[in-house]
Amino acid sequence: MAADPSQACDAFVLFGATGDLAHKKTFASLQSLVRRGQLNVPVVGVAKSGMTLEQLKERARDGIATYGGGVDEAAFSKLCSLLRYVDGDYADPATFAALRKELGSAKRITHYLAIPPALFGSVVAQLAAAGLSEGSRVVVEKPFGHNVATAAALNADLHKVFAERDVFRIDHYLGKEAVQNILYFRFANAFLEPIWNRHHVRQIQVTMAEKFGVEGRGKFYDATGTIRDVIQNHLMQVVSFLCMEPPYWGDMERTRDEQVKLFRSVRTLSTTDVVRGQFEGYLSEPGVAPRSMRETYAAVRLHIDNWRWQDVPIFLRAGKCMPCSATEVRVEFHRAPQVVFREPQPPHHNFLRFQLSPRIEIGLNAQVKTDGERMVGQPLELLAIDQQADEMTPYERLLGDAMRGDSTLFARVDSVEECWRIVEPILDDAVPAHTYPKGQWGPEISNDWLLPSGGWHAPKE
Ligand code: BG6
Repeated sequence: MAADPSQACDAFVLFGATGDLAHKKTFASLQSLVRRGQLNVPVVGVAKSGMTLEQLKERARDGIATYGGGVDEAAFSKLCSLLRYVDGDYADPATFAALRKELGSAKRITHYLAIPPALFGSVVAQLAAAGLSEGSRVVVEKPFGHNVATAAALNADLHKVFAERDVFRIDHYLGKEAVQNILYFRFANAFLEPIWNRHHVRQIQVTMAEKFGVEGRGKFYDATGTIRDVIQNHLMQVVSFLCMEPPYWGDMERTRDEQVKLFRSVRTLSTTDVVRGQFEGYLSEPGVAPRSMRETYAAVRLHIDNWRWQDVPIFLRAGKCMPCSATEVRVEFHRAPQVVFREPQPPHHNFLRFQLSPRIEIGLNAQVKTDGERMVGQPLELLAIDQQADEMTPYERLLGDAMRGDSTLFARVDSVEECWRIVEPILDDAVPAHTYPKGQWGPEISNDWLLPSGGWHAPKE
């Protein structure tokens, strides 16, 4: 959606310029934005590393080459010509005075905080003290808080300096083509709306499976776990696009209003609506506490108490060390009455399938007659789209939006707080974490305790 051109920023500041996130993702996104002609303002890296600007450029080159799909020499050299570097401590006002100097006359700055959330409060206070917050905006990364109270405290820190409209909270799932297509597909087609409710949908399943484990992120993961890492944010955003009411699109804020309305009608989870699991071998991962009870798998059953969805269970599951890497949504419909054809096997429930990764697919599963004399059939899938993953990475898209001042695809304060409210009672050791062998769909108990009618459906990789 087009943002007001007068909102475009005139400088981009990258806090944490020498850190992991910048190395693996941010510089690659900046290079792509330059290549598309969407980044043409000074980029000032800030960090405390003792590096020079030349060393930062080398590190950026290495990150793009290793993780970012390769260096595009022309775009990279343009990015380098825009790049500046301020080396200093985030607690030292001199760092911000130096930043002010580098920024020259810039007035509408996008400050991107690729730093631990514990530093957000002091960095934004320093920005204000140095006169760098007025007219500017701040982009922050997840995890956004650890529970209801810490998210509220973090928001309060940011709001001391930035108005909510100038706070851009990244949830990279919102920047995914496949996630946006859920919203588009729902509201750009007339045939779906009459059946998109409790009268026709019997259940919804969302599976986010990752074949790999915690991959060197043991310390972070052990403080976080699956529910905080991907359910409270990524999967809840998916649920909001699947289940919200149609927004009035003329005003970009209305989409976020509808998401919040939906979250408000999601019942707070209780311990009977969750299964937690931990893959065998997790405790020997570097950075993991010796007797950690942290979950690497979680399944939850959501209930939405509103007119459209009451009594339609929504099952979400996410895990590491699963049999495959794939994320898929399955919206399952009630079965047609079994009175016309006396088939030995009743037909499947029709379902609509959105694969979010590794491919982007939308398929409608329908029953068709098998060739021959008998009135029996088989399921087939009508594929609406089937394409490779996004050409534009979610980070690239979201950073571009933030620079233009379009906040549609960012998590608003009220939705983040609602999502914490929903998961708060199931966090940490609210229920035990059962072990499961690597390569299995979570602990066995998942199947006894939290089984969708007809079973979980494994997405295909
Ligand atoms: C991140 C989580 O936010 O999302 C990771 O911290 C997870 O643990 C990742 O692997 C998944 O993102 P994607 O885009 O690969 O589905």
